Formats: sequence, structure tokens, C-alpha cells
Amino acid sequence: MDRPQAEARIRELRQQIQHHDFRYYVENRPEITDAQHDALVQELRGLEAAYPDLVTPDSPTQRVGGVVAEGFAPVEHRTPMLSLGNATSVEDLREFEARLGRALPGERFEYVAEPKVDGLGVALLYERGVLIRGATRGDGRLGEDVTHNLRTIRSLPLRLRGPLADLAVLEVRGEVFMRKDAFQRLNRELEEAGEAPFANPRNAAAGSVRQKDSGITAKRRLDIILYQVSHAEPNPFTTHWDALQHFLEAALPVNARVRHYPTLDDAIAYCQALEAEREGLEYEADGVVLKVNALVQQRLLGSTTHHPRWAIAYKFRARQARTRIKRILVNVGRTGALTPAAELEPVEIAGATISRATLHNADEVARLDVREGDPVLVERAGDVIPHVIEVVPEPEHAARAPFMMPDRCPVCDSQAHRPEGEVVWRCANSACPAQVKERLLHFGSRRAMDIEHLGEAVVNQLVEKNLVKDLADLYHLTVPTLADLDRLAEKSATNLYNAIQQSKARGLARLLFGLGIRYVGEHVAEILAAHAGSMERLLRASAEELAEIHGVGPRIAAGVARFFAQEENVRVVERLKAAGVKMEGAVAAGLKPLAGKTFVLTGTFSSMSRDGARDFIIRLGGRVTSAVSKKTDYVVAGKEAGSKLEDARRLGVATLDEAAFLALVGKA
Ligand code: IVH
Repeated sequence: MDRPQAEARIRELRQQIQHHDFRYYVENRPEITDAQHDALVQELRGLEAAYPDLVTPDSPTQRVGGVVAEGFAPVEHRTPMLSLGNATSVEDLREFEARLGRALPGERFEYVAEPKVDGLGVALLYERGVLIRGATRGDGRLGEDVTHNLRTIRSLPLRLRGPLADLAVLEVRGEVFMRKDAFQRLNRELEEAGEAPFANPRNAAAGSVRQKDSGITAKRRLDIILYQVSHAEPNPFTTHWDALQHFLEAALPVNARVRHYPTLDDAIAYCQALEAEREGLEYEADGVVLKVNALVQQRLLGSTTHHPRWAIAYKFRARQARTRIKRILVNVGRTGALTPAAELEPVEIAGATISRATLHNADEVARLDVREGDPVLVERAGDVIPHVIEVVPEPEHAARAPFMMPDRCPVCDSQAHRPEGEVVWRCANSACPAQVKERLLHFGSRRAMDIEHLGEAVVNQLVEKNLVKDLADLYHLTVPTLADLDRLAEKSATNLYNAIQQSKARGLARLLFGLGIRYVGEHVAEILAAHAGSMERLLRASAEELAEIHGVGPRIAAGVARFFAQEENVRVVERLKAAGVKMEGAVAAGLKPLAGKTFVLTGTFSSMSRDGARDFIIRLGGRVTSAVSKKTDYVVAGKEAGSKLEDARRLGVATLDEAAFLALVGKA
């Protein structure tokens, strides 16, 4: 391919990828499979590698992040990013309309209603359709340049489509946020890594957008919706609704729940309906924003120094309440993390009685300056653990003792320490009873070794009575010993005993996850198990070898190597093995029927994920590559297989459907 051809193909690929990203990330209606999408991106990467000067900032390959910023450059907003006036009742909304009527007598008003998504406000600047800059709201006048980080958001177009792409300048504003599922996944990962979780999706989104390392932002699964034109040259819009339709045409994501209403009554009904639906939304929303639709009316109404007169935020009922801190306790987690928690005077919030709230870590306690006895505002949002939002000021606060993180573990009294660069204090004694309890609970949890009946009451007794000092001791418990525990009848003791015995067969992946190795969550455990095949090989692997596994990387590799460098961990593993705990994956190590064979996977499979299929092939000794060539032995084609299947036919490579593949690997 010569240069002009490459240039044309690059242009074509970028357009296609952008189109498919929009279908996938914004509309949730993909037209092609992940594999086909990967193939387009791979082809583009290949061409850009061959012609590096053709790489432009709006290329989809430039989303991966990797830029590490010293700090963020200040951005002065062309027009201030204001906040919104609040309404907390239907009367407030009627009063809002009455104010509009007084300002513009005789006029009628139409409204656009939008969920008030709880994230952080940003302003995006497009010039001739290309994303030039993205900034945070900051204090409303001065924000921060976070372009590198915003680029990593998949649903954000780096280049606009359609008529808006021709505008000399277009500044749009919107909200960056994290969906609840992404938030929960992130917090799970942070906890597995022994790091402090975020209090809510908004903090997670803000923390991710203000990351110095955009490579981290790229992994955070942020989303964005746009809800305002703040500047356009020339300005083609007449109504707000019209602007939102243009956004969609330009590939700028708009909240799917925005609605256009001819009267305030309709908009009020929307506010009430959305509030009823609140817990079921896939993102956190704290209200509805009502906006006057006609832009000419918006201009005439203008703004105060704080908020526009043409919009109002209808706030949902608070999920917060005031109560008082009785005591601040410190819990010890399975990795030894010391987590401060507040014991509260019980208070009811949204139908549940709350008597505990998390305080996250020492930094958070210091930031809140929360002290025992203080009145506080507590929030309970959906399924997130209740947390303290702020201390309600009162004169007595000053006389109360500031909270100090203990320098010894509250359970085992050994020295606590705070590793350099981390926010979390830790108890360094891995034999600490609190840690042992948490480790046992994790080991037996459903996603790990799945030991039914191994609940908190049992674990507490096992540890307190010194019957179990480490994970391997579990497998030496007998029915009579278990039956001796309080509140455990003979039958329950037998059930628990059987559950423990059955757990021996779970296999390497669940065992690795259950061991509670730092950074090794369920998914990483599966990858490690698939690659190593046996515990023995994993024990012998160096951090460098582990880091080369696709999906592992240096941080995880170091965590694994550090775990197995500790003699006591190796001893526990050896004793688990001696007790009969299975140390291999589903297929015995050494059995490599696919050795030397190269596979390409395409389409979707009904019995496993594509990653699962890949791991499976690797475990059996095979290789998986992304592009079909003459050297490929088999192309495994699932449903909606795309161009790779055609490639296979063209090159005469054998193709297998899912059933044939399962038969080949002995799974059918
Ligand atoms: S309009 C001048 N629309 O709420 C117009 N804001 O309290 C102000 N927000 O800083 C923005 N969803 O970050 C608007 N659909 C929406 C919104 C929204 C969330 C946030 C935004 C703003 C804050 C105002």
C-alpha cells in the first residue's frame, strides 16, 4: 500500500470505528462483533505505525491514555459555568414558572426535562468538528485542562459528524459520570488491591478525571452526556431540544431520558416519575433539570451571578439524615487494612435504620474532621454502604478530641504502619485474628472456594478457639470438633464438614482468588490459572515471566511474586495440597493436546466468553492470535462471525463452529 492509499484507508477506518463506537457505547446497538471491531482498530494501528506522521489526536487509537501530567493547566471559561437554582417541591416549580411569567409577561413556555446526573461538569471545545480541549468546571470561572483524560472516554467523539462538524467553534457542556455497575466494579478492584474505595460514583468520576496518569483514567469506564451549548460560531440552534437533536446527529451522547414538554404540568409528572424510578437508574441522579426550551427566551431571561433564570433543578428527596457519632471504631480487613467506621445513634434513612457508617480511611477522617460526639450528616445511596458526608458545626466540637489513627492494631496490638504513598494504615501481623477471620470468610465466599455454612459466627469461633490459624487448618477440622462449636448442631456440623471437603475440587482459579493475593481478583485468577496450569508452575514463575502474560502486567505480577516469596504463604499452599486441595485447573497440567496449534477466534459463543475460550486454548497448549494468516490452524467462528471467517475461507484455513471446537477440545 503506498502513502496515498494508506491515507485513504486510515480515513476510512477512523470513520468506521467512530460509527461503531457510537453504536456500541452510546446507542447500545452494535452492528459488528467485538472481534470485528478489534480487527478494524488493529488495522488502523498497523497503518499508523507504518506512517507515524499520519497519527492525529482525533484518531480512535489515541484514546488509550498514557500521558502523565505534572499538573493541570488552568482554563478560563468563556462564560462562567453556573450552578442551578433548586426546587424541592411542586410548589417551587410553579413559583419558578410564575417568575418566568413576571420576567416575560404574556409568553408561554415549553420545557425540556433532563435527569440531573451526579457527576462532574465539563466543557468541551470543538473546532471545525475536532475535539481541541476539555476542561473541568472548577470554581465555575477557572477550570482545569483535562483533555488527555477526557479523550479516554469511549462514548465521547473525538471528531463530530454531520453539520455540527462544520462549525468554526462549538463549546458544549455536560457531565462526566460513572455508571453504578462500573463504580461497584472499580471499588471491588480497589479493595482487592488493598486500596481505599471511593465513597460514591461522583467521587470516583471526579477522581478519575483528575488523574495525573491518563492510562489509569482509560481503565475507569467513565461515561459522558452533553446537555448544553455554551458557544457556537455560527449559532444554528433555535431551541434547546433542537440543539440536543443536533448533538445526537453529531455523535455527541445525550441522555436517553431527556424529554420535551409543552407545559409545566407535563414536566412535573416527569419529575415525579423519574424520582420513583430513581433506584433503578443505571447511574446516580439527584434530581431533574428543567430548562426553558426556546433559546430566545433563555437569552431574554439571562442569569444571576449564580444561576440561569431559565433553568431549575428539581431535587429528589434526600437520602441523607442528621444523627450523632457515638464512637469511632477501627476495623481490620483481610489484607490488614485498618478502616475507621462510625458507630451512630440509629437513624432512619429511606426506609432503613442506619447505625454504622464507613469513614473510609484516616485521610477522610482528617478531611471531615469528625470527632466522637459530633452531629453529622449521613447518606445512604442505593446499595452503597452508608457514609458520613459532613460534620454539622456546633461549638462543642472544638472541645472534643480529634480522632487519631491508632499506631497499633486494635485487635492484635501489633505495630500498624502506613506504606509510603498509600492512604491506608495496615496491621503487619498476618496472623492477626481479625485478618485470619476476614481471610477465611473470603476464602469460603461464593466466588472463591464456595464453602456453604462457613459464616461469620462459625469463623469467629474457629479463630477465637484457636482451631484455625490459617486457611489450611480448615481442612483438618472434624465433625466432632465442629459440633462442639456454639449453636452448631450435629447435622449442621456434618453439612459444614462436607462443604469444606467438596471445596477441595474447585480448581486452581478459585483457589488463587480465595488466597486473597493482592491485585488478584476473579478475572486475574482465571488468567493466571489458564496460563500456569498448575500451582507448581506458578510458584516457580518469576515476576518478569508473570508480567508477560496478557492481562497481568507488572503490578499484578509483583503482587503475586511477593505473595509467593513469603515462606508462610508457601507453607499454607503446601499444606492445602497435602490436605487434598486441587492445585490444577480443569485440565491436568502437562496435558497439552493443542501444543503448536494456532487459533483465531471470531464472533460470539454461547457456552463461554471469548476470553474464556482463549484461556482454554492456552491452557491446552495452543496459541491465539488476532489476525488470520496462512499459519493459522483453525478459525473458530461463533455467532455473527465477520471478516475473519471470510479470510479463513480465502486462505484455505480450517474453520470450526462452536460445537466442533468443543468436540476438539474434549468439552462437548
Ligand atoms: S445545566 C447553566 N443540565 O448540575 C446550566 N446541569 O447544579 C447549568 N448537571 O454544574 C448546567 N445534569 O454539573 C445541567 N442535565 C443537566 C445536568 C446538570 C447534571 C450538573 C452540572 C451543574 C450542576 C448544577
